[in-house]
Amino acid sequence: MSTHPRVYRRRRAAVALGLLAVATLATKAVAAPSPQPDWMPIQRVASPVQVVRHDPAETELPPGIIDQSSVVGLVPQRLVSAAARAAARWTYLPGESAFNERLDDLVLKAIAAHGAAQGLPAYHPAPSPTGAGLGDRGCRAGSTLLPAAEILADAALAPQGTGGPVVTVVCDVVYASGPYFGERVRVVSGTPEAVSGDTTTVLYTDTSTGQIVEAADIVRAGAVDEVWAPTVSALRLAAGALWEMEATAPSESARAAVESALLRASITADGSLALPFDMPLEGPEFASLAGFDPLFPTLVTLPAEQGRELFALFGQSLLDTAAAKQPYTGLPDLPAAADRTNCDLVPCVAVTFDDGPGPNTPAVLDALAQADASATFFLLGPAAERFPDTVKRAFAEGHTIGTHTWSHPELTGLTDAKIAEEVERTQRAVATITGQTPAYFRPPYGALNERVTRKLADLGLPAVLWDVDSADWQVPPAAVLFDNAVTPAKDGSIILFHDIKANTVEQVPAVLDGLRDRGFSLVTLDHLLGGTPPPPGSTLRSANVG
Ligand code: NI
Repeated sequence: MSTHPRVYRRRRAAVALGLLAVATLATKAVAAPSPQPDWMPIQRVASPVQVVRHDPAETELPPGIIDQSSVVGLVPQRLVSAAARAAARWTYLPGESAFNERLDDLVLKAIAAHGAAQGLPAYHPAPSPTGAGLGDRGCRAGSTLLPAAEILADAALAPQGTGGPVVTVVCDVVYASGPYFGERVRVVSGTPEAVSGDTTTVLYTDTSTGQIVEAADIVRAGAVDEVWAPTVSALRLAAGALWEMEATAPSESARAAVESALLRASITADGSLALPFDMPLEGPEFASLAGFDPLFPTLVTLPAEQGRELFALFGQSLLDTAAAKQPYTGLPDLPAAADRTNCDLVPCVAVTFDDGPGPNTPAVLDALAQADASATFFLLGPAAERFPDTVKRAFAEGHTIGTHTWSHPELTGLTDAKIAEEVERTQRAVATITGQTPAYFRPPYGALNERVTRKLADLGLPAVLWDVDSADWQVPPAAVLFDNAVTPAKDGSIILFHDIKANTVEQVPAVLDGLRDRGFSLVTLDHLLGGTPPPPGSTLRSANVG
């Protein structure tokens, strides 16, 4: 499912003119009270400092904002929880687990703080009903620059109709050049009528070293004073001032506005620094302007050479890399399936496929990759030996590989020795292909009794069953299969499919979309269980809590 980011076109507010232009404008305007024979139109000089007011109704992205779909390999996330009166959008950078954990942490803390303030029960991830639209994930481009009240009133960004104040997390990709990636995360709480909280964090990472830096740590001390004068000039000009006026020292509130803008600053594609202002700057510089339109929210962009001095070393590297127009090189060498969604944050299910691999399994792997989904495959020994490359691919792409016996017998009808042979022969065949002995086993038909589980305990394996049966072996029509597999799924569910059924393989993309639409992340069994397989001899039907 593709996302449809809200996009913006920037409108140059009140003509974006530079400081040079101010001087030109001032002289000409004063010197030409009425048209003269030698009158010439005022020369528009390209601006070193620009004021841009982004308009949500327009289509071009504001400076310093990158459409997430243009960065290959991102894994967009989303959660909506009616019980927690919370929503969040963020996006993972595959393979950068420390960076992703920082993002998760921001979201979890925002939800926990809101819950504590509102006296809500402790947060637990829960799926939404079918049709919730939660397949649309990740950053809505430009959303971190919207007025807070507008964020809270937008159903695509904040939960609506919850009967109380809400908390919402929105994001923007603000940097992707060279080995560096930056994401701006904004947490807004309250109601559209009464905003009670609004904080922004910008996280940058150097994917070549794993270093993570917050915007707060890359701005040099004293930057406020250096930004103040050009900002005042640019804003005055945008507000229609016709003459230069030397900026006085910033007031306390103006200083706070600039500090806040610096902490939320982003770097544009040409290496300029874009400072978002969302509160009016007060001071004598503005008081004299008749009909002063503060033009908020507003971006003031400082050119690369001016912005460079404001930043500590890491920030200077970001500016230089952007100014050199270096393409983003932090692309993950890991497939999306290997990434680890936090199942404390979003509802998770394990989609499982039995009896394969078969000729159609690569199509299933393609569909999983398309949906940023991981799965678990319970293989039959002869099929694994027949399609070793498919087994290798599934393993390499981060899916969990389990086994399902050699000849698919009902184990309850076999002797202990025969059970051991069925299981061990298959375990060996798969280990030969992947280099890893599987830790999960599913008995054919789910057939178990006390003797079989005791034997499995001896063999060191748990029996993994399921709580949601797609009944795909009956080759049901698409709508029935969807309803079997998607509707009953709960947080922690294990869903049963067979990747040898052509019908199943055809329906898999729709089922994956249906689960994502309800807000589920599709993870491996191993991940669903926190990386710890159940004890040998135990039986697992789901990881549902409560
Ligand atoms: Ni089977």
